Amino acid sequence: MIVKTAKGMKDFRALWMDGGIVKAIDQRILPNQFKIVSIRSVKEMANAISDMTIRGAPSIGAAGAYGMALAWLKKEDLTKASTSLIRTRPTAHDLSYAVNLMLNKCDEDLVKVADQYADDIVSMCRKIGEIGAKLIKDGDKILTHCNAGALATVDFGTALAPIRVAHRSGKRVFVYVDETRPRLQGARLTAWELVNEGIDHAIISDNAAGHYMKDSVDLVLVGADRIARNGDFANKIGTYTKAVLAKENWVPFYVAAPVSTFDRNIRTGKEIVIEERSEDEVLMVGGCRIAPRGSRALNPAFDVTPARYVRGFVTEKGVFTPGKFSELRR
Ligand code: MRU
Repeated sequence: MIVKTAKGMKDFRALWMDGGIVKAIDQRILPNQFKIVSIRSVKEMANAISDMTIRGAPSIGAAGAYGMALAWLKKEDLTKASTSLIRTRPTAHDLSYAVNLMLNKCDEDLVKVADQYADDIVSMCRKIGEIGAKLIKDGDKILTHCNAGALATVDFGTALAPIRVAHRSGKRVFVYVDETRPRLQGARLTAWELVNEGIDHAIISDNAAGHYMKDSVDLVLVGADRIARNGDFANKIGTYTKAVLAKENWVPFYVAAPVSTFDRNIRTGKEIVIEERSEDEVLMVGGCRIAPRGSRALNPAFDVTPARYVRGFVTEKGVFTPGKFSELRR
């Protein structure tokens, strides 16, 4: 991804490995600070995933792969390492997918395998971009939720990938960026990526989506954390609301995801475990408590959108309707 730094434009990945140390953009402090953190052990990697220094399903997958590479370099017990990494965040399928892939390749050089995993994710995202861009017409206004951009996917993005490709090919696009309470991934991260890329956009409060969906949004594009065999899928809390609004207003609703996000072991969305995060993420804003002492909060990090709301899944292998998943081969 292109990042404007004091020394000019530079190309970064969300995370990478360098000399036995994992480097990652600290996604907790963007856009106010751009800082690269160093991760040296499985424990540090598990913390970086839990506290969302690294976030977004495919990036978490790559983090899991690099965590396993760190364990392999230190000759640690790989099964133990895999358990501690997988339990950090339960909803994103990419994490267990990547970590189990590493376990199955434990007699190979896991640094090389993890690097290859990260490269493959980026190639898939580029392909998703090319395929998904065909859904975007010149002048389209697109609504997106959370951050399914380069930060969330090592590089390039899933939902943001078609938007990038459309913009780079000269199509005029405008993006409605849901702020995405409580962690504000839209306002902080998606908007930051769009500024760096020079893509026209506006941040809207989550509550404003219906207002704009009524007569100005042409397309909704979101990412996914886990997709069941029947096409139900988990994504950032608030996605379901957007899908229902899109259907009510006849706005096509697309989900962009690589095959690593498809969970063949679950039939429907009912089987998806939803991560519950700290109440403080809801009760506090910018380090200040906004709710009365004595109020509690509920904080599901994801919701499940039923397949019937999805016009299509944009993958690196093409656009699929939920009924056609059997054609999606790894
Ligand atoms: O809690 P987060 O920020 O990790 O949630 C991220 C999302 O919900 C993304 O939309 C999803 O992981 C897809 S990323 C390409």
